[in-house]
Amino acid sequence: MAGEAGMTGTTKREKPCVLLIEPIPSWIVDRARDCFDLIVLPHESERPADFLNHVDRIDGIAMPGFAKVNAAMMALMPNLQIVACFGVGFDGADVGYAKKHGIAVTNTPDVLTDCVADLGMALTLACLRKVVEGDRYVRAGRWVSEGILDLANSPRGRRMGVVGLGRIGLALAKRAEVFGMTIAYHNRSKRDDVSYPYYASATALAGACDVLVLTCPGGEATQNLIDGEVLAALGADGYLINIARGSVVDEAALVQALSDHTIAGAGLDVFAGEPNVPKALFAFENVVLQPHQASATVETRTAMGNLTIDNLLAQFQGLPLPNQVA
Ligand code: 8YV
Repeated sequence: MAGEAGMTGTTKREKPCVLLIEPIPSWIVDRARDCFDLIVLPHESERPADFLNHVDRIDGIAMPGFAKVNAAMMALMPNLQIVACFGVGFDGADVGYAKKHGIAVTNTPDVLTDCVADLGMALTLACLRKVVEGDRYVRAGRWVSEGILDLANSPRGRRMGVVGLGRIGLALAKRAEVFGMTIAYHNRSKRDDVSYPYYASATALAGACDVLVLTCPGGEATQNLIDGEVLAALGADGYLINIARGSVVDEAALVQALSDHTIAGAGLDVFAGEPNVPKALFAFENVVLQPHQASATVETRTAMGNLTIDNLLAQFQGLPLPNQVA
């Protein structure tokens, strides 16, 4: 489309208008600015009051998969064609509404699989080998005053249970096997293409493993899937690792299980009310906390950002979308 510089009255639009919800890396925002007429919306808590003035011209949204783009928000945008999620998860978008109104939803799978699986393994090792606890111990001078730290546990021979054996779950399983762990999993249905033992419920899987790792999608179907019963089944020597969504875990039940020593510890990258983390978790030495950063490497976030833009461009050019999920 040709630009109509200098035109008065109605200006012909040069580029499709995209609402970009932060946080997305600045160099991706710069690329998006080259491609689109961009409106940048700071994270939810800081939405500018004049946002409503722009809704009529928005053709697409780019957003982290966990940002909330609900039906009410989409309904404000009569020209909305696409919601492009920056992430593999798209639980923040109301997919039902989007489908009903012919709005495409895309995500960024594959490019983040390795990094997310890496952090799952890092949290598993951090918990079993007391990596973060050891760091705190040295810094606090306790090595000098109290002697050696309590012995940790080896991953070798331990059983990893994966809740949600998709691309990320499989990549994590491969890593865990290298560290001598055995693998079992729970999905909504059994996979025909893997030989790992299948458990029909999260509770049954928890009862049969030492490290329960969550790599399933968020959303209603998995809300509070990991509750007090699952944690009790995981048991006093078991660790919970969450690299999925905070919503998958009943956080009050988790705090209770940690207080009662029902489980041995937890490694958590995601939380229900991010960036707020239940303060009760801060008190536990046996809990490793991360600020939702499983995919947070320069390499992966760059690939995710480029894919997000590619999906938007394809939509506006009428081409097949690289990663359409709805
Ligand atoms: C990102 C994610 O943290 O892929 C996902 O679903 O949650 C993460 O990769 C997020 O989407 C980017 O902020």
